[in-house]
Amino acid sequence: MTAIDDPLGLAPDAPLFAAWLRMSIDVRNGHTRFFSIPGHKQRPGLTGPIVHGDLPLYAGLDTLGGLDALRRAEARAARLWGVDWCRFSVGGSTHANQAAALAIGAPGDTVIVSRTLHRSMLSGLILAGLRPVWVYPDLDPRHGLPLGVPAAAVRAALAANPGAKAVLVGDPSYVGTTGDVAWLAAAAHAAGVPLIVDGAWAAHFGFHPDYPRHALALGADALVLSAHKTLPAMGQAALLLARTTRDGGLLDPSRLERGFESGHTTSPSGAILASTDAARAVLAGHGTRLLGDLLRLRAVATEKLRAVAGLEILTGDHVDRPSSSSGCPAPARSGPGSISACAQPVSPSRWPTATLWCRC
Ligand SMILES: Cc1ncc(COP(=O)(O)O)c(C=O)c1O
Repeated sequence: MTAIDDPLGLAPDAPLFAAWLRMSIDVRNGHTRFFSIPGHKQRPGLTGPIVHGDLPLYAGLDTLGGLDALRRAEARAARLWGVDWCRFSVGGSTHANQAAALAIGAPGDTVIVSRTLHRSMLSGLILAGLRPVWVYPDLDPRHGLPLGVPAAAVRAALAANPGAKAVLVGDPSYVGTTGDVAWLAAAAHAAGVPLIVDGAWAAHFGFHPDYPRHALALGADALVLSAHKTLPAMGQAALLLARTTRDGGLLDPSRLERGFESGHTTSPSGAILASTDAARAVLAGHGTRLLGDLLRLRAVATEKLRAVAGLEILTGDHVDRPSSSSGCPAPARSGPGSISACAQPVSPSRWPTATLWCRC
């Protein structure tokens, strides 16, 4: 193996990525010939180099039955985010959201849902037969952008629907604004139900003190992350993380497993899964440094963009930091990946990208 194969030396901390490296080097050197799927058998004769590295999980990076390397890789991710359950998806946050929906209730059950949730969660509600009770985010008065769903709205919806099974929100929102996840978790837990957060754009949150803490550290029970959006993972890579009843949480691990498997391919790409493992190792070993670099670049870009006529950089509550009035009811427990400790009131945290709004 060369430095080109593993420039950051991730393999010792990344079992599935290490398996992918071993096998792809064997294939490259002609030591392994495939008799299993994919049908290209890593041979570029017909379709060219697009086949390189496309190794299967089953009977490839891992065994057909044991899934040893995959399970060890997922366990490392669960530890990093401070929970007891994690699965890697090759179906994006779309699949992970739908898996979460399938795990939380039976057809006909009510759930409290942010009206701005991504369509993947909305289709998850349809697949699971759940009945949404909508809650709406506050709107930024100047720009009309959706901010966070207020905890008071969630409390009121839970009080009006005592049989509700869960609260589902997206944070950060699709437009990059954030809500008060800790208060939403407190509201859900006061009613004895889990808070599920679609954090598709926030796989890097919680790994630098100047970024927001991640939703699990703020008390959420399940978190959906697109590793392919903000981490160096391959397209379609995503994670579903949860605190389950095994660890004093509210979610049933066997329902999560069944919800996850029912929509996941039975022929997952080993390469995508291995890239999730590698991206997790990057975050664990180098995340703080890399995110610090990103913040410095962001500051430079922000200054340059401020000078562009007609562009405004949004700052302040729900953009650069959670609402100033919010305080932080988040539990003291947090995963090993959570850097910032809970503070009263919440310490300001910068956003990963400049949110722009055109005044024209
Ligand atoms: C908030 C949100 N949730 C879920 C998804 C679905 O993610 P994926 O493309 O990884 O399936 C997206 C996609 O953009 C998204 O923006």
